[in-house]
Amino acid sequence: MSYKARRLSLFTPTMVVLGVIPIFTFWLGTWQVKRLKWKVALIDELEEKLQREPVSLPRRINVSVLPDFTYRKVLLRGQWDTAHSILLGPRVRDGETGYHLVTPLLRPEATTVLVDRGFVSKDLAEQALRAQAPDEEVEVLGMLRVSQARNNFTPDNHPERGEWYWADVHAIAEYAGGEAANVQPVFVEEIFEGHAGEASWRQAHGVPIGRLPVIDLRNSHLSYIITWYSLSAFTTFMFLRLLAKNRRAYVRLPRA
Ligand SMILES: *[C@@H]1O[C@H](CO)[C@@H](O)[C@H](O)[C@H]1NC(C)=O
Repeated sequence: MSYKARRLSLFTPTMVVLGVIPIFTFWLGTWQVKRLKWKVALIDELEEKLQREPVSLPRRINVSVLPDFTYRKVLLRGQWDTAHSILLGPRVRDGETGYHLVTPLLRPEATTVLVDRGFVSKDLAEQALRAQAPDEEVEVLGMLRVSQARNNFTPDNHPERGEWYWADVHAIAEYAGGEAANVQPVFVEEIFEGHAGEASWRQAHGVPIGRLPVIDLRNSHLSYIITWYSLSAFTTFMFLRLLAKNRRAYVRLPRA
């Protein structure tokens, strides 16, 4: 009786499960290696795009080719349509809560596009929203983006209440007048490359602070790789130890 039970103990369901875990975690690690290679290639490609000279947008933009131009720098000229500014957020910059000010830019003899001019602190957001831009042409250097992905926790936008939680480019273009007003769903994030002193002056005066021209994709694959491979190594060790222990117990049994 005891002989049989011992013999089976080498191949119990527990041992099978314990043997599968190292293989499975190793597979997950290997999959993450693939993902990391893919991500690095993507970031390289976007970095390369970002280094290129700014493009100027045509009078009418073919929206279906925009994804190919994501992260390209663009140079725009036009007048701010401050009557259709919105506050996007809340957003955080250097630990301070605030919003991003998005204002349509009326391009002369061309379509209107949307410009995310950057961060304004919470206290000055309303003031920034109502600020009238001087009646003159401005030049804006920015980066082309597409609608930002929203996650499950992002609430719905309520344009009628002035609540915009995520950059739904089509909805913002509609709010700014839509096709009838020659507004295209094109989203440009203004670039700010000034020094820290200028940024704090802007922050104190409610002048939007644009973004840095960098690729801000998350790349956590390396830490996943380390986690899965370590787990695989550890569970392999535990499995082999248990196997050796069971085998010793099995070998020590007197032959019946
Ligand atoms: C926009 O670009 C796509 C893809 O290149 C093309 O098929 C389409 O004809 C273009 N549309 C216009 C209006 O030019």
